[in-house]
Amino acid sequence: MKIIAIVSGKGGVGKTTVSANLCAGLRRLGKSVLAVDLDPQNALRLHFGVSPRHVGGLARAVLSGDDWRSSVVQGNTGDYVLPYGSINEGDRLDFEQDLRENPTLLRDQLALLGLAEDCVVVLDTPPGASVYLTQALAAANAAVIVALPDAASYATLPKIMSLIKQYCSRRKKFLGYLLLINQVDRVKQLADDVTDMMSAKFGKKSIVLIHQDQAIPEALAYSKDLQEYDPLSRGAHDVKLCVQAVERLLNSDTVGVAAL
Ligand SMILES: Nc1ncnc2c1ncn2[C@@H]1O[C@H](COP(=O)(O)OP(=O)(O)OP(=O)(O)O)[C@@H](O)[C@H]1O
Ligand SMILES: [Mg+2]
Repeated sequence: MKIIAIVSGKGGVGKTTVSANLCAGLRRLGKSVLAVDLDPQNALRLHFGVSPRHVGGLARAVLSGDDWRSSVVQGNTGDYVLPYGSINEGDRLDFEQDLRENPTLLRDQLALLGLAEDCVVVLDTPPGASVYLTQALAAANAAVIVALPDAASYATLPKIMSLIKQYCSRRKKFLGYLLLINQVDRVKQLADDVTDMMSAKFGKKSIVLIHQDQAIPEALAYSKDLQEYDPLSRGAHDVKLCVQAVERLLNSDTVGVAAL
């Protein structure tokens, strides 16, 4: 089992969308995949066609002491998803306290699932520093930092990189990270300039791009895998390259955190 955390310093940059598309792409490469939602927004399941009325998930399982396996659901795409779950505010605070008291809870619970060697667990996280990010980074074998090509995303990169360094760089099983610049729009000069600045900072090898493409939100709206919904779209092409880059990272045996 390999675990990849999808993280960002800033909200609304496309982490959940990327998580779902990565799962679909890795499954197409023959991997078994488990998507895990660590965000109280509980939105990842919607990308797999799980009903908005579905209330189960990992937060509920922790609070009631249930086996996490009983909260895994299969979406309409065939992928397995472990939703965050629908809980009230008091339960959320209790759950977050549990996470604070046991920083390796996620890692330990994922190990108990007994997933196959070739299984990839994709962790979707809320933006910025949080108890969820700490748990995700303590479990991850690799990370994808998602950013928009704008000044606000650029400004959050040092913080998110320092958190990756703090929680991952000393772990032997951490293979490295990629910076995914999402919603690249080559028509806009500013987006172009920021993309170039990020490329210069991270080095081309650690960067992947996904262009802004309406096919991406449309595929979600119609509950379709992007590669089936619009296989010739720019977005579908970019996502394929991202999946390949993630697969290369997960198969690498060298620690790629030299730039941290
Ligand atoms: N490459 C893209 N092209 C066009 N639209 C996109 C692209 N990537 C994401 N989006 C859209 O951007 C919006 C935000 O995406 P998403 O919810 O995945 O962000 P997020 O980082 O998970 O947000 P949050 O921080 O709130 O969890 C959505 O409407 C999504 O459809
Ligand atoms: Mg999200």
